[in-house]
Amino acid sequence: MPAVGNAPFAWITGASSGLGLSLTQAYLERGYHVVASARREKELAGLSRLYPDALHFMPFDVTKEEEVEPAKALLEKITKRLDLVILNAGTCEYLDMDKPDWSLFDRVNQVNYMGMVRSLRVCLDLLKQTPDAHLVGVSSQAVQAPFIRSEAYGASKAASRYLLASLRLDLAPDDIDVTCIMPGFIDTPLTKRNDFPMPFLMSPDQAAARIQKAIDKRVYEYAFPKRLSAALALSKLFPKLWFKQNARETSE
Ligand SMILES: NC(=O)c1ccc[n+]([C@@H]2O[C@H](COP(=O)([O-])OP(=O)(O)OC[C@H]3O[C@@H](n4cnc5c(N)ncnc54)[C@H](OP(=O)(O)O)[C@@H]3O)[C@@H](O)[C@H]2O)c1
Repeated sequence: MPAVGNAPFAWITGASSGLGLSLTQAYLERGYHVVASARREKELAGLSRLYPDALHFMPFDVTKEEEVEPAKALLEKITKRLDLVILNAGTCEYLDMDKPDWSLFDRVNQVNYMGMVRSLRVCLDLLKQTPDAHLVGVSSQAVQAPFIRSEAYGASKAASRYLLASLRLDLAPDDIDVTCIMPGFIDTPLTKRNDFPMPFLMSPDQAAARIQKAIDKRVYEYAFPKRLSAALALSKLFPKLWFKQNARETSE
């Protein structure tokens, strides 16, 4: 059992890469004990050397039902309190409407939405027994407007956003704040394979810095960057224009 002292404890999923790795580093630098979860551990080796006492790796595949109870038991063995949880694990696959792989809906949903639900089951008891706890989930700006090929990804992120909004109401009596983060494009392995322009692309560290500020303020929802939010608002103000500019034109 690690020495806890008065340090706050955070659990971060999707901690082995991209945004989750930057958030893990940031909260370690801020003096948190961080339980970092993902399937891959070696990506965290550098941080583990720098913070041998404060970083605790907990393997957890969010798609695996059979890992929920063991992960819950392990988390409760590592810590008796959980001040902050960031449910960030995610994936993205795009639908090719000319040759649809219908199975990708389940794959994406099992990570982005059901993975968030399974993670919630891992941490909820600890959150409830920690005064002033904070649950944060990572959705996406993709929920603000329809995009081609995003039928599965966008729907999974919209479901996550709704889940978090509903939890905000239901967890109020337990004194647990809930925040939904909706990032724009971040330069991570997830977006490296994108074959389209990504306006206002940020580094993971830049995104993590903005997210920390929103978490500190305990806002309900935080969509960023604002310039992208403004552009996406056009889809609601001028839906026909959005359609004209974004509809798929030809099948190849
Ligand atoms: N990058 C963007 O532009 C962008 C924009 C909006 C929202 N987001 C969201 O931000 C979050 C982080 O994305 P990212 O861009 O940082 O992606 P990333 O670099 O690909 O990282 C994804 C993380 O999720 C973990 N993960 C994936 N499948 C998992 C599974 N089955 N079980 C447990 N962990 C799993 C990965 O760890 P392992 O592979 O080691 O398990 C990895 O740590 C995601 O929810 C994503 O949808 C990203």
